[in-house]
Amino acid sequence: MPTLTVIDHPLVQHKLTILRRRETPTGRFHEVVREVSVLMGYELTRDLALEERPVTTPLTTFEAPLLSGKKLCLVSIMRAGQGMLDGMRSLLPSARIGHIGLYRDQETLTPIEYFFKVPSDIEERLVILVDPMLATGHTATAAVHRLKEAGAASIRLAVLVAAPEGLRTFHESHPDVAVYAGSVDERLDEHGYILPGLGDAGDRMFGTR
Ligand code: URA
Repeated sequence: MPTLTVIDHPLVQHKLTILRRRETPTGRFHEVVREVSVLMGYELTRDLALEERPVTTPLTTFEAPLLSGKKLCLVSIMRAGQGMLDGMRSLLPSARIGHIGLYRDQETLTPIEYFFKVPSDIEERLVILVDPMLATGHTATAAVHRLKEAGAASIRLAVLVAAPEGLRTFHESHPDVAVYAGSVDERLDEHGYILPGLGDAGDRMFGTR
């Protein structure tokens, strides 16, 4: 899949293993999701445009690189996207923030929308959509449809763990959206959970269940 980048950095892989461990407690889980997201954000933004601007140091003035081009918008799919949003936001503090509320109907595994709020100038921004688990792919697919309806023209999706089935579904609908994943796991189980995965990311991050 040409639009897929698996971030195989050793720190990302190590931290993913901490998340996968059943015994990792809630507070630590949230902390590590944030840490992995900072590292993933670093890779996701590797090709951002720079421009030379005059900068005065204590010694002299010279042309120094600063980010230019499209402004950023981070969009979290609630509620599990929150930890990733926290991490990416610490790296990109001037990004605008959007939220999409979608939950999976447990019977049909289809996404139901209950909230949508994004910046009004989203068409001018590079959107980084975050959701820890790309399982069936239905939620991310629906979220990107809504972002495109709202005018977003340049979108990247960041997930911690993806299932091959979800990647295929997502790519069929949105071949223009690059996906960045910490891992592509084996498969989905009969309940739509990723195997080996890390369980329910929202429950593990917030200590619900
Ligand atoms: N959502 C999760 O939180 N975990 C999975 O394994 C699949 C969907």
